[in-house]
Amino acid sequence: MTEKREYTGDYPEKKLYIPGPTGVRDDVIEAMSEPMFGHRMDRMTDLYTTIVEDTKEFLGTDNDVIILTGSGTEFWEASTLNLVDENILVPTCGSFSERHANVAERLGKNVDRLEYEWGQAIKPEDIRETLESSDKHYDVVATVMNESSTGVRNPVEEIGDVVAEYPDTYFVVDAVSSLGGDYVDIDEHNIDVLFASSQKAFAMPPGLAICTVSEDAYQREVEKDSASWYGGFQRCIDYYDRKGQTHSTPAIPIMLAYRKQMKYMLEEGHEGRSERHREMAEYTRDWAYEHFDMFPEEGYESQTVACIENTQGIDVAGTIEEVSEKYDMVFSNGYGSTLGEKTFRIGHMGEHTVESIKELTDAIEDVADL
Ligand SMILES: Cc1ncc(COP(=O)(O)O)c(C=O)c1O
Repeated sequence: MTEKREYTGDYPEKKLYIPGPTGVRDDVIEAMSEPMFGHRMDRMTDLYTTIVEDTKEFLGTDNDVIILTGSGTEFWEASTLNLVDENILVPTCGSFSERHANVAERLGKNVDRLEYEWGQAIKPEDIRETLESSDKHYDVVATVMNESSTGVRNPVEEIGDVVAEYPDTYFVVDAVSSLGGDYVDIDEHNIDVLFASSQKAFAMPPGLAICTVSEDAYQREVEKDSASWYGGFQRCIDYYDRKGQTHSTPAIPIMLAYRKQMKYMLEEGHEGRSERHREMAEYTRDWAYEHFDMFPEEGYESQTVACIENTQGIDVAGTIEEVSEKYDMVFSNGYGSTLGEKTFRIGHMGEHTVESIKELTDAIEDVADL
């Protein structure tokens, strides 16, 4: 039984190096403190059309963009409801891809998993073989781009090229923990639906889910007689086309923060941001090889989350606690009970730089006596 614990407001500020949420610029936080306005006012149309069109520009996509109050999880559910009649193929390689499969099962779909050992990456040739040899028609292939539990970056571009050979199969990508920090050409690689959460590499407060939708995915939903209500592509996109707003009341303050942060993101650019994240990932990997090892299969390491194998047997939980107390920096243990002490994770995403990541690795070296 959970009991009430008073929120005192009296907490030391911690620098976040977890796989989300990530630190948010002060002026982006401040952007949220405007007096409230109505979600059907002209001002809302100004705000919502700005953030939607800026996001399209940032991502360089001609696909539609939906920005909805909720978190990325919303689009596991909505994309399944909108696109899957019967069969969905979900390659699983960690906790989040497994959860995608669970969500689809919960919604009554027939889910076929293509199971990989945790730490391994999904291989395009396996997807091709499954699609070629199966006697089932898959409505959707659903792939996680960045498996946050294992720090694996899956080759969604090549997988998209394979799925493109099956025109009645839609390709759905969970880019929750990579979008904004790892370049992906959505239109070039047949990605029908790609979604992310605001609190990861976008470095915004949590509370918004971002989703791109291809014309084909939109049309497919139009032809079907069942779809998510809240996350229905047609409902969201048609409302935007007619009114430039969302179909229901959104988290306006977070959208104000989004507007501010997206200006910074446009300045840096999709590729520029990706390059900065690549440098952080490279630095962290080199550091990991010097003291430990990397957990993911070589060549598939994430650009936003380093999952480091604890080859030295350090006390992961104890180190995290001490680094937090002594340096006010927080990083993550491994995912779940299996990887908890066997690995630890550093989120190098959002506004971080090689310099700020180095501050953390110096702190870990000090505390763990490396
Ligand atoms: C890869 C991945 N997918 C989905 C989710 C769920 O996102 P949210 O908590 O924003 O709903 C997460 C959260 O960490 C994630 O890392």
